[in-house]
Amino acid sequence: MCGIVGYIGQKEANGILIDGLKRMEYRGYDSAGIAVLDKGNIFSLKRVGKVAELARAQINFSYRGSIGIGHTRWATHGNVSECNAHPHLSTGGNFAIVHNGIVENYAQIKAFLIEKNYTFHSDTDTEVLVNLIDYHYQKAPCSYFAEIVRKTLLHIKGTYGIAVMSEIFANEIVIARKSSPLLIGLGEGENIIASDAAAVARYTKRVVYLNDGEVASVRSDNFLITTLHENTVDVVCHELDWEIHDMDLEGYPHYMLKEIFEQPSVIENAMRGRFTTDGCSTKFGGISLTPQELRAVDHLLFCACGSAYHACLEGKYLIEKYARIPVDVEHASEFRYRNAPFQRNTLVFVVSQSGETIDTLAALHEAKRRGYTVLGITNVVGSTIARATDAGIYQHAGLEMGVASTKAFASQITILSMLALLLARIRDMDTVVGVQYVQALKSLPVIIGEVLKLSNSIQLIAKKYHNYKRFLFLGRQAMYPVALEGALKLKEIAYVHAEAFPTAEMKHGPIALVSEGTVCLFIATQNELLDKTMNNIQEIKARGGKIIAIVNNNCIAREVCDEVLTIPEVHSGINPIVSIIPLQFFAYYVGILRGCDVDRPRNLAKSVTVE
Ligand code: M6R
Repeated sequence: MCGIVGYIGQKEANGILIDGLKRMEYRGYDSAGIAVLDKGNIFSLKRVGKVAELARAQINFSYRGSIGIGHTRWATHGNVSECNAHPHLSTGGNFAIVHNGIVENYAQIKAFLIEKNYTFHSDTDTEVLVNLIDYHYQKAPCSYFAEIVRKTLLHIKGTYGIAVMSEIFANEIVIARKSSPLLIGLGEGENIIASDAAAVARYTKRVVYLNDGEVASVRSDNFLITTLHENTVDVVCHELDWEIHDMDLEGYPHYMLKEIFEQPSVIENAMRGRFTTDGCSTKFGGISLTPQELRAVDHLLFCACGSAYHACLEGKYLIEKYARIPVDVEHASEFRYRNAPFQRNTLVFVVSQSGETIDTLAALHEAKRRGYTVLGITNVVGSTIARATDAGIYQHAGLEMGVASTKAFASQITILSMLALLLARIRDMDTVVGVQYVQALKSLPVIIGEVLKLSNSIQLIAKKYHNYKRFLFLGRQAMYPVALEGALKLKEIAYVHAEAFPTAEMKHGPIALVSEGTVCLFIATQNELLDKTMNNIQEIKARGGKIIAIVNNNCIAREVCDEVLTIPEVHSGINPIVSIIPLQFFAYYVGILRGCDVDRPRNLAKSVTVE
């Protein structure tokens, strides 16, 4: 989704803005622009397409300044064009704005402003915002920039993260947020604002996140945050846990491939310091509940979107199997509008890599509104969801640049497996079984390293099948969420129609799709129900479908399958983590062979911050 960056300091802003926009490219966008204040005047430059296009144009852009704002736009109101790209300037050019979100009452405000002789050059709701700021300034000129922005925002319905600069207030940028993330990166004699920490991480690790309903006046050497109603707020500074190399390709052709290969260390980071000293359970410093409180939980509810939702489904299988606690998993977008009945002792978890997904955040608020304790599993330190939950677990997976989640998904299911063990040990799992589980978890980085060696074999399989038009992913029990995730990866990355079903569901309808042009991927790595899976494989075979089977040393008849990938046989608590890796590779290679932009798939955004 859209990205915001802003710079105020002593250095030349142009390059820093372009660099910040590049860092946010992974979020998805279709046009980009910057505006700088040069000798008291605002000048803007915009381009449709990639930031590289804007960077090229910037070389001949003769305006330089040490205050500026920039934006990558993902079109909502108005088509993809230079005039719809941000920044937008007010009529007369006194103010410039970049905006993420949607102004819902823009039509009424626009009509009002047209009557007051304001002119519009774009189809965006954002231009309405910047003209309304100018209107409030002209109506009652005042010497506090933030005050004018505050007055304006009181008339706005909808969502926003904005950064505003002005020719009149030349020493500050005003930013404000409602349901759209914004942060201030704190530097020495300079501050960088952004909607995503990736844009500031190169310059500073100290960041302050804005909360909903807050407005900040940011200068080069200080900042002041107040609420929309002018109340003071307590400022909390967070330390980013990302490394600069997270943002570089380090020799890999794509972030997706790099992130697949990073998984052994990502999983190690998810586990670090989280085993009990007795070697038979796990602990999470971030979970504030005592064993007594955890023991009293009768039911768990997980809410998430996309891959994080699949991770939660995996959590359900593992927690129900080992801890024997009933678990429900809801799409956050459904839960937020559903009047779902809850059991009394329900503990709610929201899971989100970015910590900014709007539907997951709304589900969190809905659960809290009903008085439930809500814990989070997130990857981004200090993200909105991390701050809004009662407590939680950080993934420490490092910045995930590929739009398709790979390492973050693996880290989420690792954490959920560890949670299953913790809850099981509080209940009925005995010490010896706990020790085996811990040993299995600890072995994960090495085992994943083994599975990564299959990369070339999977590439060869992808070469054979990349032109097929229909893919079905099939798995039973804990392999069903793996199948769902594998199908999602293929859809996202290779734009191929892929569906996932619990294997036995095939006969209840989807088998009608099977013909010679259908590829069925069986994730047959669990040891239960293998004879039944074998029957399903035969049924596909009989209808001419191609079969790719992911197996371990089990009794699946390899000769019936067209392709067989063998992965290590492991403890069932870690099996899903090991089994997803071949499917990530498969989607990656099919995407590459089909000429897709695997790191920035069409129409997708890394974090979905609008409904
Ligand atoms: O940041 P989140 O984990 O909340 O994001 C949720 C989904 O938008 C995300 O997992 C999405 O499905 C990815 N594109 C999956 O690869």
